[in-house]
Formats: sequence, structure tokens, C-alpha cells
Amino acid sequence: ETGNFTYDPGFTATASCRSAITYIDGDNGVLLYRGYPIEQLAKHSNFLEVSYLLMHGELPDAKQFSDFEHEVTHHTMIHEALKSFLQGFRHDAHPMAMLAGVISSLSGFYHDGLDIEDPAQRRLAAIRLLAKMPTIAAAAYRYSIGWPMRYPRNNLEYVDRFLHMMFEVPSEPLELPPVAAKALDLLFILHADHEQNASTSTVRLVGSTGANPYACVAAGITALWGPAHGGANEAVLKMLEEIGRPEDVAKAVARAKDKDDSFRLMGFGHRVYKNFDPRATIIRETCHQVLKDLNVDDPLLEVAMRLEEAALKDEYFVQRKLYPNVDFYSGIIYKALGIPTEMFTVMFAIARTAGWVSHWLEQQNDPENKIGRPRQIYTGADSRDYPAKG
Ligand code: SDX
Repeated sequence: ETGNFTYDPGFTATASCRSAITYIDGDNGVLLYRGYPIEQLAKHSNFLEVSYLLMHGELPDAKQFSDFEHEVTHHTMIHEALKSFLQGFRHDAHPMAMLAGVISSLSGFYHDGLDIEDPAQRRLAAIRLLAKMPTIAAAAYRYSIGWPMRYPRNNLEYVDRFLHMMFEVPSEPLELPPVAAKALDLLFILHADHEQNASTSTVRLVGSTGANPYACVAAGITALWGPAHGGANEAVLKMLEEIGRPEDVAKAVARAKDKDDSFRLMGFGHRVYKNFDPRATIIRETCHQVLKDLNVDDPLLEVAMRLEEAALKDEYFVQRKLYPNVDFYSGIIYKALGIPTEMFTVMFAIARTAGWVSHWLEQQNDPENKIGRPRQIYTGADSRDYPAKG
């Protein structure tokens, strides 16, 4: 029993850890960040304030927010030597490979002096990761298209700063419609944390060995990359492009039900939500507004809407409680903002860094709350002797 939340013994036995950060009720489509409903945070907050909330447990007052914003802003630069790490990749390497590699290499820049026994240094490491992730993500993108890296500008807010690092060119100032930063900030809020998803559990498992936070978050990035997890947003766009036309939706739904066909509807289903994903509901509404405000008429939106409509009426999906998840519509918004498909999961990683570092801090602050060493059910051979050489 903790507050209003009770768990049956079976659930408690399988839980990997205790956490006060995020609560999900998969049957009722509830998602709370430190007790605040995602719908209210989406409407009233911003990504940096939500990051503070996830890390510290309470919403900041005006001074706390201003101090936090100043700290994050003044840690956005990366060591100049890190740029050469990017040059070690082929230019067409997947940006998730570059992100995982460069974040892991931060261990070589900041870890040596890091005493993770010191709470102040743990918090500084978390701030560094939150601050540098967008800089490294944008630098990876610019490297992949042969553009020079753009340094972070301290006079911009978190999301605006990222968009400028992504798209600004030396020859002319970047003009972006306000809806772009607003939509991206909302997507970052919705992707910031999600309890013990595969990548967050990975961060906590690596953290339980005492590895440094940069190594932990690099492990989280690689776990997020998979198409069953954060890689789904990239896979959704590829699936919608493969379907191509609204009139071909029925064929895709039939394929997704065919056991002999490995085709699945990416962006549908969830390990926990066996009802609607509250984030998908929010993103769906925003998607229409963003495309309207940006005056973008993307035929893939029509394909997505027809696919959602068809799946929600189909017995196979209804019976298996397969609803659109957070990844189903996000890619359409990213595409409308000019973000290339291969950067979609990188966007997810930028946002989820807030959750990863918050879970790492929570774990490090409570030595008893470490994910233990997972056990297994052994299905191999009985004990047997090595055959005598004859
Ligand atoms: C994220 O954990 C998190 O919180 C993750 C996340 C976060 O914020 O961190 O929410 C982000 O990762 C969202 C999920 C993104 N992934 C996708 O959209 C990929 C497509 N979805 C599937 O791979 C699948 O639904 C999972 C992996 C997401 C969930 O798997 P489940 O709930 O364990 O479902 P399952 O694999 O056990 O399948 C149950 C049945 C099976 O059929 P039967 O064996 O009962 O006949 O449903 C079928 C599956 O074949 N099924 C699908 C399907 N997903 C499940 N059939 C068609 N299309 C799908 N997408």
C-alpha cells in the first residue's frame, strides 16, 4: 500500500524496483508524473519544468526554475574534441549509433573527476546529460548532411535552442513559426518518462552496478533504438509510406493479422496500456493543429487516420486491446517540422533523458532500491561428464 496505490502480491513479486517518479494505470489510460496527470502538464507546463519535476519531485517556484534553466543553459556546450568523435562515423551512419557512441564517450570527459557518492556531483552529471543531449543530437544530424555544427545559443530556450542547432545555416537567420517549438516542447513532455520501460530499466540495471551515469544513459539509448520500443516512431513512418494510400489500409490490416506474415502495425499495442495511451490521444489532437498551422497537407495523416479507424473497428485488434500508442502520430508531426525520419528516435532519446537521469538519481539516492541481478528459468542439459578421450 502506498497512498492510493495498492498492488496484488503477484505484481509486487515481479516488480523490478520501487519508484516515486511515474505512475501508469494501463487499464484506465492514466499517466502521472510525480502525481500530476500528463494531460495537465501537457496543457500548462513546459519540458524544462517537467524535467525539474521528474528530477526533484516537486514543481519549481519561479526562482528554482530560473536557476535550473541557467544551470542547464550553461552546460549545453560540448568539448571541442567530441566533434572529432562524429567524424569517426560514416556520414550516413544512423544518428542513434552516433548518439550512443558520443554520449558514452562523455565518460572520458566528465567521469574521471565524478564522485557518484556525492549527491551534488550526481545532480551535476544529470544536468550535463540533459543539457548536452540536444547539442550532440543536432551535431550528429548536421554531420550526416555535411553541414557545420551550430553551437548552442544561451539566449534561446531549450527547444528553440535545439531547433536552431538543427536547422540554422550561417548564411541567413532561421525563421521558424512559433508552433514548431510549441509542438516539439509538447512532444518532449509526453516522451519524458514512462515508468520501467525497457530503456529506463536498462539505465537502472546498469546503474545498479555503479557504472557512471554517461555509460548508463548510453545503454538506455541503445535499448530505446529497437523498433518494439523507441524505434517504433521511425518504423511507423516507414509503414505509412509503405501503405502509401488510404485505399491500401485494409490490405495492411489484413497483413498485420496474418500469423504467417511478420508485418505488424507499428505504433499499435503496448506492454502496459491495454486501453488507450493517454499520450496518443494528446498527440493526435496536436497533430491536426500543427499540420493546419504549418499549412502542411500530408497524405500520410489521412493514411494514419484511416488505419487507426480500421484497426479500432477490427475484432483482432479489439480482442487484443491493441490501440495506437505514443509513437503512432508523433512521426507525422516530426516530419511536418522538417525532422528527417532517421532522427525520430533521437528526438525520443532527447526527451527521455529527463526520465533516465531522474531514475538514475532516484536509484543512486536509495542504495536499497537497486534492480537486483535478474534470475532465469534454466531449460538446458542436466549435469553430465566430459567424454573420456579414447
Ligand atoms: C513504446 O514500455 C513503454 O512504456 C514503452 C513506451 C515508452 O514510453 O517508453 O510506451 C514507448 O515503446 C511504445 C510501443 C512502441 N512499439 C510499437 O509500436 C511496435 C508495435 N507494437 C508491438 O511490437 C507490441 O504491441 C508491443 C511490443 C509494443 C507490446 O507487445 P505486447 O503487449 O507484449 O503484445 P504481444 O507482443 O504479446 O502481442 C499480443 C498479441 C499477439 O497476437 P497473439 O499471439 O495473441 O495472436 O497482439 C499481437 C501479437 O501478435 N500484436 C500485434 C501488435 N502488437 C501486438 N499485432 C499486430 N500489430 C501490432 N502492433
